[in-house]
Amino acid sequence: MSPEPAPRDVLSLTRRKALSLGAALGAASLVPAGMARAATLPTSLPVTARRKLRDLEVSSIGLGCQWVPGHPPGGLKDFYGSFIDRATGIALIRRAVDRGVTLIDTAEAYGPFLSEGVVGEALQGIRDKVVLESKFGFNIDPETGKQLPGLNSRPEHIRIAIEGMLKRLRTDHLDLVYQHRVDPAMPIEDVVGTLSDLITEGKIRHYGLSEPGVQTIRRAHAVHPVTAIQNEYSMLWRGPEQEIIPLCEELGIGFVAWSPLGMGFLGGGITPSRHFTNDLRAIIPRFAPDALKANMALVDVVKRWARAKNATPAQIALAWLLAQKPWIVPIPGTTKIAHMEQNLGAAAIHFTPDERTKINADVDAVHIQGARLPPAILSMSGVEAPPKG
Ligand SMILES: NC(=O)c1ccc[n+]([C@@H]2O[C@H](COP(=O)([O-])OP(=O)(O)OC[C@H]3O[C@@H](n4cnc5c(N)ncnc54)[C@H](OP(=O)(O)O)[C@@H]3O)[C@@H](O)[C@H]2O)c1
Repeated sequence: MSPEPAPRDVLSLTRRKALSLGAALGAASLVPAGMARAATLPTSLPVTARRKLRDLEVSSIGLGCQWVPGHPPGGLKDFYGSFIDRATGIALIRRAVDRGVTLIDTAEAYGPFLSEGVVGEALQGIRDKVVLESKFGFNIDPETGKQLPGLNSRPEHIRIAIEGMLKRLRTDHLDLVYQHRVDPAMPIEDVVGTLSDLITEGKIRHYGLSEPGVQTIRRAHAVHPVTAIQNEYSMLWRGPEQEIIPLCEELGIGFVAWSPLGMGFLGGGITPSRHFTNDLRAIIPRFAPDALKANMALVDVVKRWARAKNATPAQIALAWLLAQKPWIVPIPGTTKIAHMEQNLGAAAIHFTPDERTKINADVDAVHIQGARLPPAILSMSGVEAPPKG
């Protein structure tokens, strides 16, 4: 395991790159905010399908709300070079709820604090229609929102973080709260003990873990049942199939898939010669020029299946996830209402057993090149919490 990373450095690196190129790229995203190319069918279907994360019922497709300050001031920016104004972010969330989405994902680290504020504002008057999930665990100063080095899951810090979330999200309870990354300095028993107390107090209803080590899941679950694991999972990154998904199956834990579109790669709009600038993908090995060219074979698979199923590539990528287990729920992120609506259409795409075998074989046949994250971020995943006592 490499030394404990400094998330501030990682995030500020991304932000610096983003800011320096923001003006140029603001006008250069493929389609204007709020619009997307016309999708083939099925699209714009309200999502009525429901799934269970343990005993928590949610729409089969959720919505990720991960934005940092954009420009002009007051605006929002995602990690992939798209800018939107705050009103568009709010409209996107409200439209998603209107279309049947009941799982809204965010985190105090997104901004920090900014995304929770946008979600809280968007959910005014419709809060009770959704399962609201957020995450704590980075070392964020509760007063200033400044991201300090390291992680922080000390019980007193968790309590302060939850109070801040409730305020920003304008609610008296959170439906699902995740530890964003395992704190290598805190026994998981102490973290879950605190979360269990918060459940008793009614401030949170369920808890989960994001990118934890396998033994940490078992230990947490022994203290209080884990409702969901939130890990990266997509056709582009299938690591959870090794140990985490079988463990979720064994223990009856739900699975929420982050970056289900492979950070946009599976949407089909990225060309082999694309150079990422002002974009998190600029520092991710699997999107480096040679790896990107090799990995386009996966996009070819997705596009082929999209043609066969009269769907869009993004819909195929999401439908593939839904087909893996009935308790997997993807939370695609987007800056465009039309993409959000298109993504919901994935819930209507089904694979016959024969198609499932074939599409899995097609995905298996592609050998993805390059790591899914830079080493400093990756080293925070799969971490086991220290033993208690
Ligand atoms: N637990 C964790 O550590 C963690 C880490 C990362 C993310 N997350 C959560 O997971 C959510 C999703 O992850 P993500 O945003 O990193 O990756 P993602 O959902 O795999 O990809 C987002 C990208 O896909 C594009 N996209 C969305 N719908 C599309 C469509 N129909 N066609 C073409 N392109 C489409 C978006 O561009 P447009 O804006 O142009 O649509 C955006 O660039 C986040 O919002 C966050 O809530 C959690």
